[in-house]
Amino acid sequence: MTTVTVEASKKYNVLIGAGLLEKAGELAAKVITPCTAAVVTDDTVDALYFETLRKSLEKTGYTVVKFTIPHGEMSKNTENYVAILNFLAESHLTRSDVIFALGGGVVGDLAGFASASFLRGVRLVQIPTTLLSAVDSSVGGKTAINLDSGKNLAGAFYQPDLVVCDTNCLETLPKEQISNGMAEVIKYGFIRDGEFLDILQQGSPDWENVIARCVSIKRDIVNADEFDTGERQLLNFGHTLAHAVEKCSNYEIYHGAAVAVGMVMISRACAKKGICGEEILNRVIELNKLYGLPAAAEFTAEELFNAVLSDKKRSGGKINLVVPEKMGKCVLMSLDMASAKELLALGV
Ligand code: GLY
Repeated sequence: MTTVTVEASKKYNVLIGAGLLEKAGELAAKVITPCTAAVVTDDTVDALYFETLRKSLEKTGYTVVKFTIPHGEMSKNTENYVAILNFLAESHLTRSDVIFALGGGVVGDLAGFASASFLRGVRLVQIPTTLLSAVDSSVGGKTAINLDSGKNLAGAFYQPDLVVCDTNCLETLPKEQISNGMAEVIKYGFIRDGEFLDILQQGSPDWENVIARCVSIKRDIVNADEFDTGERQLLNFGHTLAHAVEKCSNYEIYHGAAVAVGMVMISRACAKKGICGEEILNRVIELNKLYGLPAAAEFTAEELFNAVLSDKKRSGGKINLVVPEKMGKCVLMSLDMASAKELLALGV
């Protein structure tokens, strides 16, 4: 087992290893005295992993209640958020109790926002079951739901008390979900770790090492800028256009696939502008291909830019774009909307 410790406004461990779900109760009990555990999950994960978690929690003395949402991004909505809050109230959850988010990014974000807001804050354990949530959304405290006008538009920074990542859960993931997570893995290499890109290029990743490397990069960034006012925005490499691609596809294109396309587009735009060399663009395309990710989406620059306008990374009349400078290094570029539109159009 590998332990990565995050020291943000809350200090907590991210535990990564094979077979941890069966031990989730005893691992959680080290930081949260057994109490009522409200497990939030989706229908797919419920069938696969809830029983293992329930047994482990009950064996350690927790009383378990469960709320299940339908799987998929469309579930990350206000209706499910309010339904979870009502469920927590009906289950008489108190501030001494705990919410377990068992699932991927949708469950983690939704349960995380419910934890942040129910009774003004209830403890939270993230149990990511997808590669994407293991390397990104379960760590760092960003929680959110989507509104009709855009993705993640309502949410809170709310750090978990513990993250338990069982790498065995990746075994039941469909291939496209591994690809989905690999987009975020590749992202870490481009923003901070050129050597990691060479390792990824060899294929057949060792999950515990890959997840620990990504989480360690994220830990360093979150420790330095928990509330996303500067350095943390680097984690959005490829994401401005990715959120636009997702929105234009009515969320039918997975987040990871959209990030893959977003990284290609911004790298192409930057290569054309001379901000980075062509080798960055070629490397993004090569790695995407190796891990089954797309390099293009069928939306026009106009459609994508209209979607970018509702992105929360806009601030006043400006937008912060994450641009690659060299292999393993991205920087932030603040542009007015006209210049951003011109740059992004070069990438489409
Ligand atoms: N997923 C980007 C962040 O946590 O900041």
